[in-house]
Amino acid sequence: MAKKALITGITGQDGAYLTEFLIKKGYVVHGIKRRSSLLNTDRIDHLYQDPHIEKRDFILHYGDLSDSMNITRIIQECRPDEIYNLGAMSHVKVSFDVPEYTANTDGIGTLRILEAIRLLDMKDHVRMYQASTSELYGLVREVPQTENTPFYPRSPYACAKLYAYWITVNYREAYGLHASNGILFNHESPIRGETFVSRKITRGLSRIALGLQDRLYMGNLSSKRDWGHAKDYIKAMYLILQQEKPDDYVIATGVTTEVREFLRKSFAYIGIELVFKGKEENETGCVVSVDDKIFIEKVSKEHLEKFKSRIKKDPCVIKVDSGYYRPTEVDILLGDPSKANEKLGWKPQYDLDGLISDMVDSDLLLMKRENYLRIGGYNILNYFE
Ligand code: NAP
Ligand code: GDD
Repeated sequence: MAKKALITGITGQDGAYLTEFLIKKGYVVHGIKRRSSLLNTDRIDHLYQDPHIEKRDFILHYGDLSDSMNITRIIQECRPDEIYNLGAMSHVKVSFDVPEYTANTDGIGTLRILEAIRLLDMKDHVRMYQASTSELYGLVREVPQTENTPFYPRSPYACAKLYAYWITVNYREAYGLHASNGILFNHESPIRGETFVSRKITRGLSRIALGLQDRLYMGNLSSKRDWGHAKDYIKAMYLILQQEKPDDYVIATGVTTEVREFLRKSFAYIGIELVFKGKEENETGCVVSVDDKIFIEKVSKEHLEKFKSRIKKDPCVIKVDSGYYRPTEVDILLGDPSKANEKLGWKPQYDLDGLISDMVDSDLLLMKRENYLRIGGYNILNYFE
């Protein structure tokens, strides 16, 4: 019998990669998607199977983490061997705008799954993964952060995830559930949501190079993150659930980088050298040179001259807009993944340069398509991410 997995948040970045990974391993994957007025399954459409096929290994259910009866019914019907709780309102800045919704989905949503497992008497049958986060460390108590570093959440998102973390630990200790937390540091990919900083940069850079946009407005350029690739991180989720005993693990690369440096590296990848001047709201990132050969190889010869003439008039392609600042910021995240290295045998394959090249290559392709549409007379939208 094939193993069955149930994934909440299947339409998200991690849900999509994990689904692909588990199907390749021979799993039958069930996923919970939200009803929306427009289809929201872009990231998993390539895996879709006609519901009329008899033996499917990919099955979607309508549901929502705010609806306990729905969650309980789906778990009862699927009877999964493994549950990956990835569903969440996952944007830190947005959580300040929708704090109650975030607490309900990200915090109580986790409790709903744990309670369903308990009520359905499935604790000896099912293993559960909780998508915990390095945001829990917030105003960090030590650098680097390990499984033993105390938490100090700095946003409604992190507070909701703090509850989810501890309720997972509590159900493990109180009822003997095989429930584990993966404390994952930031991980990105070509299918990362467009309003997270990495994707905002790689999309914006591609649009600037192709003349679809003049500049990028950014928030805090000095914060530091430990960035990895989502393709590596979903493997850690799987490994955590294959352990005989449930436990909590930090998943990180062990390298931290400023947002400013992420920008500099991304632009350099297509041959544009950026220099940053000024401070805080007055800081700008300006083009000081272009490597013609790299630009032509990555973008095109046709766009090189146009780009150069545009930056002659205004070389400052990065400006700061304090509207993107957060009421309370997390200044530095740096994880120590030693426990995951040793116990799970997990090691990331991608470094930051590999991640950036994957994302920029993909966004350049996407934006070239937009440019063809523009040339063909279609209306191209502006993005303010
Ligand atoms: P994501 O791309 O934002 O995906 C979130 C998923 O949750 C989407 O499928 C979304 O559905 C779904 N969702 C949102 N609200 C829901 C609700 N009320 N009920 C059911 N589903 C809901 O996030 P991700 O980057 O893949 O991250 C996966 C998980 O890991 C999240 O819990 C996140 O907080 C956590 N995490 C992420 C990172 C990271 O760097 N990526 C690091 C640590 C922890 P729609 O598509 O309909 O919006
Ligand atoms: N989004 C965004 N947009 N962030 C910006 C910008 C901008 O224009 N400019 C600077 N930043 C800074 C943010 O202030 C933050 O310090 C950093 O870039 C990273 O922001 P995000 O990419 O939005 O990610 P995050 O670190 O807040 O949260 C992500 O990682 C967490 C794990 O640490 C999300 O994926 C969370 O769901 C996840 O738990």
